[in-house]
Amino acid sequence: MKCVVFFVTLSAFAESPYAGSAACATCHRAQFSTQPRTPMGHALERAADCEILRTHARLSFKEGIYSTTIAREGDKSFYSVTDGARTIRVPLDWAFGLGLAGQTYVLQYQGEWYESRMSFYNEIASLDLTMGAQGYRPHSLEEAFGRKMSIRDQHDCFACHSTGGTETMEVRLDKMTPGVQCENCHGPAAAHLTSRAPMPKLAKLSAEEASEACGRCHRTWSQIALDGPHDIRNVRFQPYRLTNSKCYDSADARIRCAACHDPHRDVETKSSAYDAKCLACHGASSKLCKVATENCSTCHMPKLELPGAHHKFTDHNIRIVRAHEPYPS
Ligand code: HEC
Ligand code: HEC
Ligand code: HEC
Ligand code: HEC
Ligand code: HEC
Ligand code: HEC
Ligand code: HEC
Repeated sequence: MKCVVFFVTLSAFAESPYAGSAACATCHRAQFSTQPRTPMGHALERAADCEILRTHARLSFKEGIYSTTIAREGDKSFYSVTDGARTIRVPLDWAFGLGLAGQTYVLQYQGEWYESRMSFYNEIASLDLTMGAQGYRPHSLEEAFGRKMSIRDQHDCFACHSTGGTETMEVRLDKMTPGVQCENCHGPAAAHLTSRAPMPKLAKLSAEEASEACGRCHRTWSQIALDGPHDIRNVRFQPYRLTNSKCYDSADARIRCAACHDPHRDVETKSSAYDAKCLACHGASSKLCKVATENCSTCHMPKLELPGAHHKFTDHNIRIVRAHEPYPS
């Protein structure tokens, strides 16, 4: 008897708690038909599948004596940097970020993991320094190649850009699926399939709880409040910016992230589509705003350039924007 119990327990542990997004297709067609193709669904790609690397067969950048090149050979890409005398050249396996703003590469060299010093930026369709790398100049070929990542860095990178495989601090590439898949947000669903275990109902989250849930990756209010940055560099951290707005009410569902964004679809880029979200609280009175009656977000949620990102981010600190006012950080 004991033997059987032992066997059952062991096999339950051996099986993955994840079912994979494809397993959701039959019952949740609506979400499955769009979510896997969103930028979040592609937040990490294998180099072989990466559109940017396919369509830009050769990318290069010169920084002082160092030259960096990303070159395509068949369905493989290689990342190399040279100082003229020595060269580091490695296969490029992992492309982080779909590249709406940019794309950064995570590379393995001599048993260590590195974040590439160069990233691809969509706006300039070429390479430039990776965000965060602007602050220092390389003193060696290794430094010109990339930033050596700690175990924690590797873990965090994959935890925010992929699904499964990051339960322990050491990333299990064999258990990881690239991109933010269903089960990253909803939790492992194998038991939901095999024994119809109910899934947590995310639509029941309050504005504050939702902000925390999305903030696990988009950064929470408290992370930024405590650790900064307290300047324009926090414009991309929506939970922080939104919480600082007068519109924010931690208990009001109308200001939840999902009130304005369907996480299963590409972000809506038509400004007028958000008007109803504003008017849900502000009412449709013609006296509401002296200036305009539509496209509210274009003025009250301005798109601001993030230095070094070659990209403008939408400021979620909803407010009256006055000319020449300093950035409310
Ligand atoms: C055989 C059909 C079936 C499959 C396959 C299936 N589900 Fe479900 N799912 C259901 C049903 C029925 C419900 C509603 C009852 C419940 O809440 O358990 C549900 C509810 C849910 C909910 C809660 C929705 C809410 O009300 O907030 C989530 C989230 C969810 N499923 C996610 C998934 C994910 C992720 C997968 C794939 C890994 C998946 N489901 C696969 C049938 C299925
Ligand atoms: C597991 C980490 C993770 C979680 C949780 C997460 N996101 Fe994201 N999100 C990302 C990453 C990574 C990107 C960047 C994707 C890219 O462009 O490569 C992103 C991009 C986005 C975008 C821009 C995509 C576009 O279509 O332009 C929106 C909008 C977004 N997330 C909303 C949300 C909302 C709302 C939630 C909570 C319901 C959420 N995210 C939760 C990681 C996450
Ligand atoms: C705490 C979660 C988190 C960690 C850790 C993280 N990212 Fe991200 N990353 C995000 C989110 C959320 C976005 C989308 C919002 C944004 O652009 O700020 C994003 C966006 C990106 C983008 C730009 C994608 C685009 O075009 O919009 C790149 C490139 C990127 N991450 C690379 C990395 C790399 C490489 C690492 C590890 C060194 C890493 N990220 C670590 C959450 C994370
Ligand atoms: C970025 C996070 C994220 C990802 C990825 C994600 N979801 Fe969701 N999902 C949510 C949130 C948040 C809600 C609640 C939305 C709301 O408040 O209206 C939700 C709601 C749902 C619901 C309930 C819908 C309803 O109408 O009640 C189902 C079912 C569901 N998701 C299935 C999926 C499936 C299947 C996938 C993968 C194909 C997936 N989700 C991927 C965040 C996510
Ligand atoms: C009142 C509506 C509203 C709410 C609430 C809201 N957003 Fe947005 N969000 C927008 C608008 C408008 C855009 C710009 C869309 C466009 O033009 O591309 C946007 C864009 C984004 C983007 C794309 C990157 C960028 O800066 O343009 C991300 C990521 C995002 N929102 C995440 C979130 C998260 C996470 C939350 C919850 C903390 C949230 N949003 C709450 C209106 C909202
Ligand atoms: C959850 C309800 C809610 C939503 C959704 C909402 N607001 Fe507000 N908003 C408020 C409240 C409450 C105030 C504060 C009113 C006061 O202090 O008199 C406010 C204040 C404002 C102000 C004045 C801010 C200031 O600096 O004085 C502007 C402008 C504004 N909202 C625009 C918008 C726009 C544009 C949207 C949509 C993108 C929006 N709001 C969405 C509730 C909301
Ligand atoms: C062309 C830019 C623009 C657009 C579009 C716009 N606003 Fe405004 N709004 C402003 C400016 C500027 C002010 C400050 C007016 C002043 O000097 O008092 C303002 C003021 C406000 C206020 C504060 C009113 C008060 O008396 O405190 C609210 C609330 C507001 N707008 C909401 C909205 C909403 C909702 C929409 C969309 C239906 C919208 N706005 C569209 C520029 C705009």
